[in-house]
Amino acid sequence: MVFQRGPLRGDVRVVGDKSISHRALMLAAAARGRSSIVGSNRGADVVATRDAIAALGATVREDGNAVVVDGGALRAPVVTIDARNSGTTARLLMGLCAGRAIASRFDGDASLRRRPMERVARPLRALGAQVTTSSGRLPASVRGIPSPAGGTFALEIPSAQVKSAILLATLDAPDIVRITGDDSSRDHTERLLRLFGRTIRFDGRTIELEPGILVAHDVRVPGDLSAAAFFLAAAAIAPGSAIAIRDVGVNPTRTGIIDALQAMGANVEVTNRRDLDGEPVADLHVAYAPLHATTLDGELVVRSIDEITILAVAAAHATGTTKIRDAADLRGKESDRLTTIAETLRACGVTVREFPDGIDIDGGGARAPGRMLRAFDDHRIAMAIATFAAASGPAGVDDAACIDVSFPNFVTLWTAAQSALPAK
Ligand code: S3P
Repeated sequence: MVFQRGPLRGDVRVVGDKSISHRALMLAAAARGRSSIVGSNRGADVVATRDAIAALGATVREDGNAVVVDGGALRAPVVTIDARNSGTTARLLMGLCAGRAIASRFDGDASLRRRPMERVARPLRALGAQVTTSSGRLPASVRGIPSPAGGTFALEIPSAQVKSAILLATLDAPDIVRITGDDSSRDHTERLLRLFGRTIRFDGRTIELEPGILVAHDVRVPGDLSAAAFFLAAAAIAPGSAIAIRDVGVNPTRTGIIDALQAMGANVEVTNRRDLDGEPVADLHVAYAPLHATTLDGELVVRSIDEITILAVAAAHATGTTKIRDAADLRGKESDRLTTIAETLRACGVTVREFPDGIDIDGGGARAPGRMLRAFDDHRIAMAIATFAAASGPAGVDDAACIDVSFPNFVTLWTAAQSALPAK
């Protein structure tokens, strides 16, 4: 597949938020009663979660734009849960199973089998569950314990997946559960728990989940900012672009991409802010403007953890040297994203220096690669290549099918935005 150069214009609605969709399905599976999830992400990762909760005893069916789940009677799966490419599916469901009298096994595809699992296994063992991994990776097995005691958990890294695994494991805890060590990772689990009737507090340092029961609830899922991000960044760097992206989640734990682009001088406007089932949602407007370099580190990296690859593409089109630090966790994503984005940009004429926890990108020098680029079986690298191409392409990618993991209609929407007429 070859992505073309050219501005992005018009009005776009992107897929439903992947993180929220996974969590809504899991809470619906755990809660007694029926929950209808409207606008759920339809990518392969979320399908892996749907299949997994069905294997765990939930009844799942489609009803138009909704996924309807009857939950509350989870049981041990007879098959190994195949999380396929999805780290969120594996890690959060290991948590859910650890807090119940359920024995389960987890596996995934070749990429997921390379990703670290001890980060969730350790706290789940501390709860009393028996968890084994294969040298820290999948396949893993979990023998859960019913109603594990509450307690305090100090996270080793700010990870929404680890935090959420602990919360899902302690849903039936008879005492308060406290989690410290993470003040900036995405808080969708906490917000959905409130929607499903639970009391959960966060004072900026400590999360506190009170004992209680989960009540089934309908959920409307906002557009995925991590999917919108490719349109945002491409419109920011491709001259002539002016695009509106409607109904996108703008949870402050996810908006690092907007803050970073604005810090680089991008013309991004957030309008029509509103609430959708406990999540902030807005329309985003972006028009091309020249960008300059910035530094990305600390909590800004946590709040844009899945957008660092496209921010690197934006940096390649900015004046000056952009420094990205505190991003070592990117080495454990669907690919080693520090290395894979560095290699991708170098193939496009950009000077990139790699460090253990980040990269430096010298702006300028971006040119069409003149050869097929690798996606490294990583959906966000494939879409970062499309983003690059919009400003400096054409750029071919060896495997665009991996985009289906998070954003099945990406190519259709992208092509439509590149052929849309300028707004009057
Ligand atoms: C996710 C959390 C992030 C992110 C991943 C989705 C989630 O991972 O990179 O794509 O839905 O909780 P970590 O929590 O490991 O940082």
